[in-house]
Amino acid sequence: MDDKTASRGEWRRSHFGGHLCLRQLGKQVTVMGWVQRRRDHGGLIFIDLRDRSGLVQVVFSPQVNAAVHRLAHELRAEYVVAVEGVVSKRPEETANPKLPSGEIEIQARRMEILNTSKTPPFEIQDDTEAGEDIRLRYRYLDLRRPLLQEKLHLRHLACQTIRNFLNRNGFWEIETPVLTKSTPEGARDYLVPSRLNPGSFYALPQSPQLFKQLLMVAGVERYFQIVKCFRDEDLRANRQPEFTQIDMELSFVREEDIFAIVEGMLKELFSRCRGIELKTPFPRLGYQEAMRRFGTDKPDTRFGMELVDLSPLLQECRFQVFAGALAKGGQVKGIRVPDCADFSRRELDELTESAKTYGARGLAWIKVRADGQFSSPIEKFFRAEELAGIREILKARPGDLLLFVADKPAVVARTLGELRNRLGKRLNLIDEEKLNLLWIVDFPLLEYSEQEKRWQACHHPFTAPRESELRILAENPQKARARAYDLVLNGEEIGGGSIRIHQKAVQEKMFELLGISREQAQAKFGFLLEALEYGAPPHGGIALGLDRLLMILGGTDSIREVIAFPKTQKGACLLTASPAAVDKKQLEELHLRVF
Ligand code: AMO
Ligand code: AMP
Repeated sequence: MDDKTASRGEWRRSHFGGHLCLRQLGKQVTVMGWVQRRRDHGGLIFIDLRDRSGLVQVVFSPQVNAAVHRLAHELRAEYVVAVEGVVSKRPEETANPKLPSGEIEIQARRMEILNTSKTPPFEIQDDTEAGEDIRLRYRYLDLRRPLLQEKLHLRHLACQTIRNFLNRNGFWEIETPVLTKSTPEGARDYLVPSRLNPGSFYALPQSPQLFKQLLMVAGVERYFQIVKCFRDEDLRANRQPEFTQIDMELSFVREEDIFAIVEGMLKELFSRCRGIELKTPFPRLGYQEAMRRFGTDKPDTRFGMELVDLSPLLQECRFQVFAGALAKGGQVKGIRVPDCADFSRRELDELTESAKTYGARGLAWIKVRADGQFSSPIEKFFRAEELAGIREILKARPGDLLLFVADKPAVVARTLGELRNRLGKRLNLIDEEKLNLLWIVDFPLLEYSEQEKRWQACHHPFTAPRESELRILAENPQKARARAYDLVLNGEEIGGGSIRIHQKAVQEKMFELLGISREQAQAKFGFLLEALEYGAPPHGGIALGLDRLLMILGGTDSIREVIAFPKTQKGACLLTASPAAVDKKQLEELHLRVF
C-alpha cells in the first residue's frame, strides 16, 4: 500500500456529495472533492467534503477501516480526496438542517488523497474577510466559494437560455472578427500592432456593429452573438474594459419587432433563472419626459421623488442665484425629500458638496417644520405667492426637505437626478423586490459635446433619423430625433440599439452632420458605404450588456462577481499580472518603440 492510498482500485465518482440525502440511505457511494474542514472527535474524524454541488459530511472510524482512519489524520483544508463509503443517517441531534445533505453522512471505507494543498491565503467560504485584491490574485480559489460558483452557473444558464430562445426565433449565431477596424461607440480603442504591416494597427471591436450590419446586407436576416467587446474607458463600478454583449440584428423590422423579441427573451430568462414572471410589454418612456421627471435617460422608477420645474414660478424672484440662472435661459428645479427636515448642517453641507461634483454651483434648501412653516436661509428672498407656489408645486408636507438647483438644464438634470438616486438608496425608498424594466424611446439624433465643441451621434452614427424628420435633419439637425432605444432595468442601462440607416445618401448626410469629411468617411467607413449600394435591406438591432444583466439577475452590486476573470478598476488582471512589459525583441518585430 503506498503511503497516500489506504486502498487500491479504480476510482469513479458515483454521486455529487451535495446531492446525497436519505434517498441513498444504505447505498455504497463514491464522492470526490475538496476538504472544507476536518474535525477530530473522540476517536472519530469528520470532514466536510466540498464539490460543485455543495457539502457532505464524511466520517472516518477506526472500527470501519483503521488504515483509512489513520490516513484521515493527514487531511488539511483544500486537500483533494476520493472517498468510498456507505450513506448512513446522522444521529438526530447532529443533523444539519441548513445543508441539503444535512440528514446523512458517509461512513468512509476507502479513501485516497488525490492531491495536497498549501494552506490557502483565505478560507474558502462565502463570508470571507479577505480583501478583493488577494481574492483576485488567487481567483481560482475565490471561485471555489459557493457564492461565486452560483454566479458562474447563473451565467451559464443565462447563456443557454438566450441561445435556445434566439435559435427558436430564427437567429443564427455568427462570429465576427476580433482583430478589426475601429467601430466608434464613444470609447477609446484598444489597438493591436500588425507585425506584417509595419505602422498599421488593428482595433479590438468596441462592438460588432458594422459586421452585423454587413451580415444583414449579406442576407442573414437574423443574427446574434454572445460576444466580447473592448472599450478603453475610465472604469466605474458597472464597467469592465472587456465585457460581453448579447448582440442582435434583424432585417425588415421596425422598433416594435425588436422590442417584442427582447421582451420575450428576458421573460424566459427571468423565469428560468429566477422564477420571476415579468409582465410584458415593458413600459415606454420618451427621452424628454425621462429627463424632465428624473433628470436622466436611465431612470430608476422604483421610487418617486421626481424633479419638479419651478422656473415659470420663480421667473421674477429676488434670489439672485435663481433669477440669474433663469435670465441666462437656465432652469430652477427641485425635489421633495420626505421626512428629512431634521438633516443637520453637516448633512446639508455634504449634499451641497456632492451637488458640486455633478457640476452645480450650489444647492439651495428649505426645511418644512412640523408646524408647516418654512425654515431656510433663502426664504427671505421670496414673495409670499412664490413661497405658496413652491409649497403647492412640490406638494410639500411638514417634515419634508426641499432641495433646489438653478443652472443650465443639463446641469440641473444631472445634479438632481444623481441626488435623487443617492437619497433614494440612503433613505431606503427603493423596493428591492421590484424589477422595473423600461424602454426609453425618442432619443435626439445628435448631442452637442461641450468637450469636443461639435455635434456627436447620441447613439452611434449608423442610427436612422425618424423618416418624417429628414427635412428637419437638413434644416435643423439638433431638433431631429433618432430611431434609437435603450432598455433600462432598475436605473441601469442594460441595452441599447436602433433602426439603422440603410441608404447611402442618408449615411453620407449623417457623416457630414457629424463633421466627418468625405475623405475621412471613405477611409474609415468606405466598406460600409459601398455595401449600402448593393441592396442593403432595412434593418435594426440591439445589444444587451450581459454582465450588467447578470448583476441584477444575481443580486450583486459588483460586475466583477459575475465575470470569471475580471479586471480591477485600473484594468489590471491581478492573477496573471497583466498588462505587463514585453521584450525589446517583440517590440522590434512589431516596429514599435516605447517612449
Ligand atoms: P452600447 O454602446 O449602448 O451599444 O452597448 C450596449 C450595452 O452594453 C453594455 N456596456 C457595458 N457593460 C459593461 N462594461 C462596459 N464598459 C460597457 N459598455 C457598454 C451596456 C450597454 O447598454 N452596437 C451598439 C448596439 C446596437 O446599436 O445594436 C452598442 O454597442 O449595458
Ligand atoms: P450664495 O449666494 O452663493 O451664498 O448662495 C446661497 C445659497 O444658494 C447657498 O446655500 C448655495 O449653496 C445656494 N446656491 C448657490 N448656487 C446655487 C445654484 N446654482 N443652485 C441652487 N442653489 C445654489
